[in-house]
Amino acid sequence: MSYQTIIFEKQGSVAIIKFNRPKALNAINPDVVAEMGDALDEIEKDGSLRVLILTGEGEKAFIAGADIAHMVNLSPLEARRFSVEGHDLGFRLENLPIPVIASVNGFALGGGTEMAMACDFIYASENARFGQPEINLGIIPGFGGTQRLSRLVGKGAAKELCLTGVIISAQEAKSIGLVNKVFPPDKLWEETLKTANLIASKGRVSVRAVKQCIDRGFDTDLRRGCQMEADAFGLCMASPDGKEGMRAFLEKRKPELEGELI
Ligand code: CAA
Repeated sequence: MSYQTIIFEKQGSVAIIKFNRPKALNAINPDVVAEMGDALDEIEKDGSLRVLILTGEGEKAFIAGADIAHMVNLSPLEARRFSVEGHDLGFRLENLPIPVIASVNGFALGGGTEMAMACDFIYASENARFGQPEINLGIIPGFGGTQRLSRLVGKGAAKELCLTGVIISAQEAKSIGLVNKVFPPDKLWEETLKTANLIASKGRVSVRAVKQCIDRGFDTDLRRGCQMEADAFGLCMASPDGKEGMRAFLEKRKPELEGELI
């Protein structure tokens, strides 16, 4: 498959999607949404991939938002559809069987912050900037910002960001819990890849179970979340990894985690 608005690469068991519209600071238009969908189809079919990284091509931006030149002419129904397509993309990232890391290398505004929040966690460079500036355009976040931001940073901080439209630094984003770690710009990629490879070295079944339990448990009550955890805990024991990991510990050797269910 050839892509125009994204670059899709594989480095060993790590898949990489780079948003590739640098002249428009990687703004998201319908082509980006469609090509992302195609790349996620490819990733889902490729059993050798263990982690996906999203990042932006160029020095300046991860994604500076949804493409305003596209949105300005949308009818209300077309705008609603664009929003739903953005939501679907976020849900696909969340439901992907492998973890997704956002490696934010510059502006992540509007749809950029929203795309990053749909990933499992965010690493950022010191020059990254986050925000939901849609209010300055007379609109609101449309790719899940009002929902995921409050779940990640709490209602007060989410309302402040969405109501003022202010752009915050990577350090501020870290201080409110939006970003996990901040690195110097020349270290971001190396550190993202290091973490991706560390996760890729774990068992596939338990990695998937962690992702699903935390995501699905977050939207339910504690008792049901713990029930999901108990089911997934049992499932991990049905994978050779569960036995191999614990045996290896007891035998004082490195585990060989294959990751498949028998
Ligand atoms: N859509 C379309 N084009 C965009 C864009 C966007 N979101 N962001 C930047 N660009 C384009 C600019 O129009 C400009 O194009 P030209 O060179 O053809 O004029 C190019 O990218 C470079 O941008 P700037 O010259 O503006 O660069 P800057 O360094 O002066 O400013 C910036 C950078 C602060 C990110 C500024 O570009 C900006 O404010 N961008 C818009 C940010 C924004 O409002 N994002 C939210 C969009 S709405 C949304 O995302 C809704 C949703 O939830 C689905």
